Amino acid sequence: MSREPVQKHARAGLQGDSRSLPDAVRCPRCSTGIDLGAQTLRCRKCGQFYPRLGTIPIILPEPLAYLASCKGQMDRLAEQVERTVLDVREQLQAADLLPLTRERCQTTIEGIAGQLADVRTILEPLLPEAIRPEGSLQSEQLPATLDYLPYLYRDWGWPAEAQGENEHALSTVEEVLGDGHPGRTLVMGAGACRLAYDLHHRHPDAEFMVLDLDPVLFSAAHAVTHGQSLSIREANLEMGDLGQSAREWLLVAPQGPVDDARFHFLVADAVDPPLDPGLFDTVLTPWFIDQGPEDVRDLISTLHLILKPGGRWVNLGPLKYDLDVPISRRFTREELFDLAERAGFRVGPWKSEAVPYLVSKLNGRGKMEWVLAFCATKLDAPQEESESRGGPPAWLVFRHLPIPTFDGQGLFWSEASTIRMVVSSIDGRRTLDDIALLVAERAGQPDISMSQVRTAVRQCLQQVHPGCRPEG
Ligand SMILES: C[S@@+](CC[C@H](N)C(=O)[O-])C[C@H]1O[C@@H](n2cnc3c(N)ncnc32)[C@H](O)[C@@H]1O
Repeated sequence: MSREPVQKHARAGLQGDSRSLPDAVRCPRCSTGIDLGAQTLRCRKCGQFYPRLGTIPIILPEPLAYLASCKGQMDRLAEQVERTVLDVREQLQAADLLPLTRERCQTTIEGIAGQLADVRTILEPLLPEAIRPEGSLQSEQLPATLDYLPYLYRDWGWPAEAQGENEHALSTVEEVLGDGHPGRTLVMGAGACRLAYDLHHRHPDAEFMVLDLDPVLFSAAHAVTHGQSLSIREANLEMGDLGQSAREWLLVAPQGPVDDARFHFLVADAVDPPLDPGLFDTVLTPWFIDQGPEDVRDLISTLHLILKPGGRWVNLGPLKYDLDVPISRRFTREELFDLAERAGFRVGPWKSEAVPYLVSKLNGRGKMEWVLAFCATKLDAPQEESESRGGPPAWLVFRHLPIPTFDGQGLFWSEASTIRMVVSSIDGRRTLDDIALLVAERAGQPDISMSQVRTAVRQCLQQVHPGCRPEG
């Protein structure tokens, strides 16, 4: 473990700007402010309608496709459960089963069918009738929305314990946060929201905004943190003792409801949050950086943009990237810290440790996970020494930094129209993101992700910009 003293965080940031966090929400299509207090959410400039999941605003570029995908995922879950139930029922026809086996199979059927009914009770009333379970948004573009149910049991069902998983997560975040005040805090990929809720109760005068895409976790979290109690069954197909195949959890918020004026839910993409820049004192990424973004470097740019100077990025979680993330983009702690510093953060304090992770209170199964916690402070000005560290220029790595012009740029010509376009777009102010947007608009291929467009722009810059050459 390594430590550095934590800088006291000034509350002053909140004083100059009296806006509440919902005032900072922007249309993800045209960046115009959206009035979240309105009954119907519609962008007054581009006209895009933003529905709600229950009462949670869905501020995504394609909100109806999102709702359709939720419905589609609900239907797929139902089909899956139906198949399993039919299969177990068929097995129950066999004459050679022990009475105990029959009993267990029956409990399993009731458990998984009951779990499906519980999930339906949470989600279905929130999905508009008219939404059809298909849409232009591919389901792969959303996290697997029903995979995360154990977070609900852990966050709101498990009993309090001195060294429980929720308690340990809170104390670790407080340790790296030090005695500073969190101020305006954004929680990315907040999931079932227990950590955000606990911090809210520790700091009642701070203001929190939680973002996630998972409709079940998020709507259950919204209900529980607004005083409702929900019951949900845990059922699994793992064998141990007979009594370990199913049980019911009652989900309740242990310290009562949140203060609605200081705790806001938004279904939104945390990698590209539809929020004013430079507003947050703290951004928390709990178990998120290896799951949410396609490329962590893009998330670091977002964090830099969204934080105030002096604001803090607080991370907690493993570095367990999906297998489809290229190995060169699965960063270790040291690479992550190097990236953060090149982007304009000062890193520290930090700690890493192996902790129990989702060890089920039903059957004792789960795992130990290596987890990294750190706090990184956004510097007032970019670090000059970033250039002298060696390696690529920071503007090539990150999407938020201006790309410098170069000698001879006006005379540049290439047969490749994309390269010509990239070079003619460099004006000393535009960033990788700005140029990628121009390229994407011209290409007009919606199936290509912005991360892929940025990669293409980076390749063009590498070929032509003298700043990308070691001697440049
Ligand atoms: C591993 S879970 C962690 C949940 C929670 N932070 C916790 O520690 O229990 C990752 C969460 O990130 C959410 N997520 C993934 N990609 C996201 C994105 N682009 N924007 C917002 N949330 C996202 C998932 O829905 C999920 O709830």
